[in-house]
Amino acid sequence: MKKQKSWSGRFAKAANKLSEEFNASIGFDVRLFAHDIRGSIAHATVLCDAGIITKQESKKIITGLKKVESQLARGIFTPGAECEDIHMAVESRLAELIGALAGKLHTGRSRNDQVALDIRLYLRDEIKSILSALNKFKGALLTLAEANIDVIMPGYTHLQRAQPVLLAHHLLAYYEMFCRDTSRLTDCLARFDEMPLGAGALAGSPYKLDRKLAARLLGFSRVTANSMDSVSDRDFAIEFLSAASVMVLHFSRLSEELVLWSSQEFAFVEIAEEFSTGSSIMPQKKNHDIAELTRGKTGRVYGNLMSLLTLMKGLPLAYNKDMQEDKEPLFDTVDTLRAILDVYAPMMESLRFNGATTLTATKKGFLNATDAADYLVNKGLPFREAHRVVGRVVRLCIDKGVDLEGLTMKEWRVFSPLFGVDIKEAISIEKSLKSRRIAGGTAPGNVLKALKKAKKELALEAKKVVL
Ligand code: ARG
Repeated sequence: MKKQKSWSGRFAKAANKLSEEFNASIGFDVRLFAHDIRGSIAHATVLCDAGIITKQESKKIITGLKKVESQLARGIFTPGAECEDIHMAVESRLAELIGALAGKLHTGRSRNDQVALDIRLYLRDEIKSILSALNKFKGALLTLAEANIDVIMPGYTHLQRAQPVLLAHHLLAYYEMFCRDTSRLTDCLARFDEMPLGAGALAGSPYKLDRKLAARLLGFSRVTANSMDSVSDRDFAIEFLSAASVMVLHFSRLSEELVLWSSQEFAFVEIAEEFSTGSSIMPQKKNHDIAELTRGKTGRVYGNLMSLLTLMKGLPLAYNKDMQEDKEPLFDTVDTLRAILDVYAPMMESLRFNGATTLTATKKGFLNATDAADYLVNKGLPFREAHRVVGRVVRLCIDKGVDLEGLTMKEWRVFSPLFGVDIKEAISIEKSLKSRRIAGGTAPGNVLKALKKAKKELALEAKKVVL
């Protein structure tokens, strides 16, 4: 016999098959089953507390719900399109297991506040697990920085060699970005820490349900303030997708650098074979698909954010079925982030930097020209003038095919009498690095301190993320 829909009372005709399939979300929202059941168990407890169902009935419903959960988890119950969505699938299975009593569970509740709850519960779990994976990755980044603390490399602007920096300083720049990602996700979590049940379809439930009890049972700090907002709001999902977009943007930039640095043109770094791939035609190739794919996946994460923003922009209050389309972009983003985080941490640990090559690169391209200008400034010349003088010195070096180090004292002095023998030391890479002791600068002492501070903070942060 064909199952009756829970809303079939008003209908004389059964649903068209194509319409039923078009309407169904069970194909993807089945993933919410554990959260849906957790919400239903809390709701049954609240119904009992309000005297709407007896203690015995609540017990029976809860036992039944747990059974449905285990059947879904083990693949014994595999709901199809006839169930429409996860909420109706759970309810109809519950009815098969415990009979008509199951029909009392939906008292004072609508799928609109139910789904608003489920997504919050789901996203809360996922964000916590993403935060913990992100911490692991950040740990790998710090280990890499520490292991290469002596590596000197060219810092770039416009992808042109600019000034010497420590590789660890460069890596710690990413650490700062990923810390802001942690902070954005944490903020997002705190903002949607609100329990929507009790909103009903849109106007609020007419039953005396203790919303605070539901919030406590489900681990929320507070209840939502407005029933219409409770069922209409997807800001929290948009906020997550936006934080996720910024995070993958950071991974994409790091990936781009790894692709560049591992090329023969740079040869700054070696990515381990375990994290590389070959070519089906060119036997010599070792490609860095993990980094490239990460860069590529950024597109779909941005796309998911755009989908949800566009989905929501024209919707009148309160719930509209359009909102069923919120889930796939959300799930896809969660999956993508998890996959990137999981593979990236061990890949980072596998990197081997070539300090000799990065040092040689730092010596070519006049990266110490600014230091020469600063030397003149220290001797009293206005910076603009000093810039011009050193510009002319560089011009001569280019014409002669030498570095600044290749000039004789006599040649220096042609450009300014302020140049003394100490210019040689002033333009050394070591001096250049050491001189940047300003807060946030690349001086080795600074970088060491920053690394220590980061390690301490990360250890504290890791304790905060409770799963
Ligand atoms: N599957 C629906 C969704 O994901 C659940 C809410 C349905 N509400 C309704 N009034 N039809 O949005």
